[in-house]
Amino acid sequence: MFVCRLSENIFMNKIAIFASGSGSNAENIVNYFEGKDAASFPVIISNKKDAYVHERAKRLGIKSVTFSKSEFDSTDMVLDCLKENGIDFIVLAGFLLKVPENILKAYPNKIVNIHPALLPKFGGKGMYGDNVHKAVVEAGETESGITIHYVNENYDEGTIIFQAKCTVDKDDTYEDVAKKVHTLEYMHFPVIIENILSK
Ligand code: GRF
Repeated sequence: MFVCRLSENIFMNKIAIFASGSGSNAENIVNYFEGKDAASFPVIISNKKDAYVHERAKRLGIKSVTFSKSEFDSTDMVLDCLKENGIDFIVLAGFLLKVPENILKAYPNKIVNIHPALLPKFGGKGMYGDNVHKAVVEAGETESGITIHYVNENYDEGTIIFQAKCTVDKDDTYEDVAKKVHTLEYMHFPVIIENILSK
């Protein structure tokens, strides 16, 4: 009998995570898929060389690399890195740059982002991190949440895949809202990614 052993499942999706900051979602996603056949994480890509996500990557034993904004926007360096690592799916987890056209073209419907509010509200340029939670509290919203969506050429405008809500209570500070939103992110983002990959 001929037995063929593969060191890696050929159906395994190779995911690149793009992150500009702390990377707690990146770490949560990698941990969620640990020991599962659905995905591997050959590389984490950032545009900030001092972002904490690099520390997390080291701890997780994942290679992490940094490209400048101009390398993203005006060269094929990031695309080449994705190809070299055999990447077939991209997750933006707290990534602050616009994804350039060469990458959008190479990965149609294969790039997802998480936004820490209920789009289409509180999205667009400048609406990231705590700015979003501050705007939500200042607007007197009674609820916020997360939006997971496909990425297109405009900030926060791709097709929405999933939303989950939390309350914004009268006395909530933006830090309180951020905490509630992060809880939703950790709970749902990996599961939604897994669902998309299984289709
Ligand atoms: C998250 O709230 C995410 O929704 C937003 O940026 C934040 C990133 O947090 N896009 P972290 O770097 O994953 O801790």
